[in-house]
Amino acid sequence: MLELSKEEIETVQKVADSILNEFENTPENLIPILQNLQDRLQYVPGPAMEKVAESLDIPEVDVFEVVTFYNQFRLYPPGENQFKVCMGTACYMVGGEIALDSFERRLDIKEGETTEDRKYGLERVACVGCCSMAPVVVVNDKIEGHVTPTRVDGLLFSHDEDKKENNTDEKSDDKPKEGEEK
Ligand code: FES
Repeated sequence: MLELSKEEIETVQKVADSILNEFENTPENLIPILQNLQDRLQYVPGPAMEKVAESLDIPEVDVFEVVTFYNQFRLYPPGENQFKVCMGTACYMVGGEIALDSFERRLDIKEGETTEDRKYGLERVACVGCCSMAPVVVVNDKIEGHVTPTRVDGLLFSHDEDKKENNTDEKSDDKPKEGEEK
């Protein structure tokens, strides 16, 4: 489970309070409340579930069960880079599961989770409409086709390199240029 910072917990609680104020506190409103949380926060964090359970006077486990039952809800915030592995029939038949497994092993997370450093998120999605390129992975809204385990390594490497290049650029800006005094 990802640790939330104190500031994040406060934000989550404020958002949860404001949403709960918009609804009558009855268990029938559980799903609409959770949908609002998901819309506002992009996921449904633990402290929000606690508030909802308390407010609707239902056990926390009931809220958790609903959040984990429906695909529309996420338990983790999206990563800086979000990998969506297509698990539609065409992709599944030609290695979608293998691509997903490769991401899980490399990132050491399960689908639906986000890495501890928040850099990568992983999820499975239904057909994204590019079946001729199966198996397909959507990386930050960009379609990548014919994804093999080697290609998974390449995708992760290229996103690591982007990050390193940005850091190097930032650092090199701090260095004195040739001819400049130190
Ligand atoms: S099944 Fe994956 S794009 Fe259609």
